[in-house]
Amino acid sequence: MNDAIIRLEEVSYRYPDGTSALNNCTLGIHRNRRTAVLGANGAGKTTMFLHLNGIVQPTSGRLFWGNTPLDYSRAGLRKLRSKVGMVFQNPDSQLFSASVREDISFGPMNLGLDISTVRQRVDKALQAVAMAELADKPVHNLSYGQKKRVCIAGVLAMEPEIIVLDEPMAGLDAAMQLELTAVLEKLHGGGITIVIATHDLDFAYGWADQTLVMESGRVLAHGTPDDILLRPEVGETLGATPQVAEIIHSLSLIGIDLRGNGYLPRTKDELVKAITAFAGREDTP
Ligand SMILES: Nc1ncnc2c1ncn2[C@@H]1O[C@H](COP(=O)(O)OP(=O)(O)OP(=O)(O)O)[C@@H](O)[C@H]1O
Ligand SMILES: [Mg+2]
Repeated sequence: MNDAIIRLEEVSYRYPDGTSALNNCTLGIHRNRRTAVLGANGAGKTTMFLHLNGIVQPTSGRLFWGNTPLDYSRAGLRKLRSKVGMVFQNPDSQLFSASVREDISFGPMNLGLDISTVRQRVDKALQAVAMAELADKPVHNLSYGQKKRVCIAGVLAMEPEIIVLDEPMAGLDAAMQLELTAVLEKLHGGGITIVIATHDLDFAYGWADQTLVMESGRVLAHGTPDDILLRPEVGETLGATPQVAEIIHSLSLIGIDLRGNGYLPRTKDELVKAITAFAGREDTP
């Protein structure tokens, strides 16, 4: 776990009303991975995320950036937040400026960048989330999904090392979900570490290369989606297993074993290809 870019070590967190939201939670986010964080409502995902950019500090335990404990001074937090970009579950808790462009500019302006660099970054971020045409619209007049895109653009414009997204797909239409997945792929290809909390098991199974399953404020299981998401105790806490995995299992019971090359399909498209290839094999005399 020591090669983690950021990690929590035995972190517990109690909200002011006494709710114990994290309980001795130990986990690491690894550089340039796609990490999916799963867990039932109230498992502690959002609370854990709030620790990653220092919005809350542990009641006990510690966080480390590499091997250095997080610095909660004003300067330390500013530096941390330039490296860890956070897209909140609810866009209204993140947006505040008058127009889309102003909102997205706010972060990069605070980094002290010159005005032409800010403009460049904002234009690039607007393009990435397909919001360039609405750049001058007041944010409070946008639809929910559009607000969510503005939040994502605001984080992109900061060019952070890690982007943490709390249920980013919720409320986005199917086309925008695909577009966002493509944006995240591009960012990941460019060396950015991406962490997503999601209730969409099928998305996590197809997208992630590291999975953390949380239960009662701690990590129940972590590893690759194949290793983790098919475990009975994980299925029990999440109330389901990925559909693609279920179909592969059902097919294996009737003698169709898709593990031909030792590789298991993780998305619907991969599954269709594997079935087609299997059918082709069967046809061959
Ligand atoms: N501001 C708060 N004050 C008091 N308790 C809180 C607060 N925010 C969250 N909690 C509690 O902390 C626990 C963890 O909540 P958290 O929001 O981290 O869960 P989550 O895994 O993100 O859930 P969801 O899937 O519903 O988003 C829950 O018991 C919740 O009721
Ligand atoms: Mg949450």
